[in-house]
Amino acid sequence: MIAHGEVTVPGDKSITHRALFLAALSGGRCRLVSPLAAGDTRSTAAALRRLGVKVGRLVEGSAVTVTGGGLRALRPARGAVNCGNSGTTARLLMGLLAGHAFETRLTGDRSLRRRPMARVTEPLGRMGAVIEAAEGGRLPLTVRGGALTRLDWPSPVASAQVKTALFFAGLVGGVPVSVTEPVISRDHTERLLRLLGVRVSVEGTTTTVEPAPSLPAFDGEIPGDISSAAYLLAAGVLAESGEVVVRNVGINPTRAGFLRALERMGAAVAVQERWVSLGEPGATLVARPAPLSPLVVEAEEIPSMVDEVPLLACLASRAERGWTSVFRGVGELRVKESDRLALVAANLAALGVAARTEGDTLFVEGGAPPPRGRVETAGDHRLAMAFAVLGTVPGAAVELDDARCVAISYPNFFRDLAGVVHPS
Ligand code: S3P
Repeated sequence: MIAHGEVTVPGDKSITHRALFLAALSGGRCRLVSPLAAGDTRSTAAALRRLGVKVGRLVEGSAVTVTGGGLRALRPARGAVNCGNSGTTARLLMGLLAGHAFETRLTGDRSLRRRPMARVTEPLGRMGAVIEAAEGGRLPLTVRGGALTRLDWPSPVASAQVKTALFFAGLVGGVPVSVTEPVISRDHTERLLRLLGVRVSVEGTTTTVEPAPSLPAFDGEIPGDISSAAYLLAAGVLAESGEVVVRNVGINPTRAGFLRALERMGAAVAVQERWVSLGEPGATLVARPAPLSPLVVEAEEIPSMVDEVPLLACLASRAERGWTSVFRGVGELRVKESDRLALVAANLAALGVAARTEGDTLFVEGGAPPPRGRVETAGDHRLAMAFAVLGTVPGAAVELDDARCVAISYPNFFRDLAGVVHPS
């Protein structure tokens, strides 16, 4: 393949969810430019509408207006609120609902109904919310909110969804919340809250959010999603010649582990034209083909690249022959939209790559022959995109069982991929 082309990636999924929720809690009309218009963020917009908030239509590349009704803006929904495939929608919404004195039933698709929710329901219960969940603390569940008490929570997982849900509960409930994580996870919520005048302090891995009497209405442009950009950059690295230019990419250090990993593999991405939007740093990124070295990733690095591990594992299969890449501490991948750990290993093996797991560690051998075979995605967007990129290497023939699932986070993925790498 020849890499040649320029793409502007769509808005960041994590930041779009947070901006929609915070706009709903603000004191008035907010205009968000370039939000992500995809399956997951539509789940958040739809859930907010069901709970009485005025949210405009999410349209690719345009702006959305959200009319905030103050910190306790939500109104009881008729029937269950369906969060679709989106863990972020379900968990962040639980935080908001914990401070609202009515009952809400939350559900989701098959994938979401198998994901762990106790990591959020347990601390919210400590604050005073009453949550009744299906067996094992999963969806569907019912949240009955009300008066909340302050919380100091030692989270056993480094999860920005957990952290954000608890901060949202604190804001709605008017109480301080401190969360201590094993490693700091993505800090988009903290950045947005600071921008809105909320007091946020960080000491080591403990983050504290103080209550605020209200949140001001705000406008702003959502930075592009580094997790989406990663696929295009990886395709540029795997190409035989040329370069891929990706514009409008958020490069928040708590999200940019993928770029650091690429650099260690010998494929440093050039960072140009830096900017800041909604408190987030961003830039234009340029990737060029490079021979890849094997990669060793430690558990502490995983939160900064958690959604990019499947893609890095695919890249690792193209590294030098005779070496093994090692990803330690990737157990969280089992509870994402699919069991990504098992499926990454099984799909790589199906394509002729020596890959295996041992406990929470993933091993991938380099120097594999061109990948050929069928990939089982289990409807997981990130698996579909990672293996589609692997399918661009010379001599590859990779077939996906479901290509449509990319619409969860990147509806125009295949168009953009075809725009940056071309048959030689
Ligand atoms: C997200 C956080 C990550 C990530 C997910 C989005 C967020 O999950 O995998 O795609 O927006 O907070 P965890 O925080 O549970 O690790």
